[in-house]
Amino acid sequence: MLVLGIESSCDETAAAVVEDGRRVLSNAIASQTPLHQLHGGVVPEIASRAHLEAIIPIVEQALADARVSMDDIGAIAATRGPGLIGCLLVGVEFAKGLAATRGLPLVAVQHVAGHLYSPFIGRERDAWGTDVTQHAEFEPYIGLAISGGHSSIVIAEAPNQLRVLGETLDDAVGEAYDKIAKLIGLGYPGGPIVDREAALGNPAAFDLPRPMIHRAGYDFSFSGLKTAFAREVERQGGADAVKGNTAMIADLCASFQAAAIDVLVERAKKALRDHRLRRLAVVGGVACNRGLRAALAERLPRIQIALPHPEFCTDNAAMIAGAAWPLLQSGALSGPRLAATPSLDLAAMESWQGG
Ligand code: KG4
Ligand code: ZN
Repeated sequence: MLVLGIESSCDETAAAVVEDGRRVLSNAIASQTPLHQLHGGVVPEIASRAHLEAIIPIVEQALADARVSMDDIGAIAATRGPGLIGCLLVGVEFAKGLAATRGLPLVAVQHVAGHLYSPFIGRERDAWGTDVTQHAEFEPYIGLAISGGHSSIVIAEAPNQLRVLGETLDDAVGEAYDKIAKLIGLGYPGGPIVDREAALGNPAAFDLPRPMIHRAGYDFSFSGLKTAFAREVERQGGADAVKGNTAMIADLCASFQAAAIDVLVERAKKALRDHRLRRLAVVGGVACNRGLRAALAERLPRIQIALPHPEFCTDNAAMIAGAAWPLLQSGALSGPRLAATPSLDLAAMESWQGG
């Protein structure tokens, strides 16, 4: 069955057609990055307006790219939350209208659950070589969802059953990347730029903290690292002095990235060890990070690591259409009363799946 997925939780308007939760027929994305670049971050009012303008063309493009028409679509999936309310509303209300007029089932997907599904789409077999639709072969795994809006460690105990172990207490890791990049004039989004700069610098140049790395539990905190980075910039003569010094920028980025990676890898390692698991899925925009990918391979040699194809790391609708598939099969459908929910919890997912 073909599922049309719709994602509009932040600054990408996206639509995709995915077959049986696996095969990606199209993955259309209208990015608003240039609109928000001027402001160094996402401006909610501008974002919702841009979603309204893009939603119909992007759905048409997803259908055209997949070479199908609405008559071929068997179900509609949309991101219900978390995200910016004005943005979520555009996708959810559009999906509800389309499902009602076409008489199609509607599935609501939690955005982080969508990210956690992303390693399992767009490839014949999943990243650990097993068939994800074969529930008998399922083996529990730890999921690390790291993006501009989220930093969560979850355990997947059964297919589609995600339990949150830890979350960030303040900034998400991608948000910290974006903020430190803005501070030293690197542009938006900062993550990919800092990643590139970090490869040219010395990760031991500045001694930045690794917040909560050995603390009990699995929560994160990245705001202290961001503040320590800002203090180091001040010590080096302030942002304006740093901006003109390419070697200094590379060293600062490398030192920041080393600290962020240490925290992410150690927390994931602890979750794997405590639960005696050998599988780790790393998802979200920050899962694109080359330094992180290299560190995971090097420091977790005996762990099977599932990473999404880079195209499915940042926000997209293919992961939403994919994650909808098991929900659809279990009959977890939504109706006309479905409401966009800006602070939708991953932990609450089971209770709203039938709603
Ligand atoms: O998943 P995503 O598109 O949106 C959210 O759900 O938040 O993630 C976007 C975030 C941004 O903060 C961006 O800076 C970060 O992912 N990001 C990266 C990299 N590529 C994107 N962070 C670090 N390294 C990268 N290569
Ligand atoms: Zn996201």
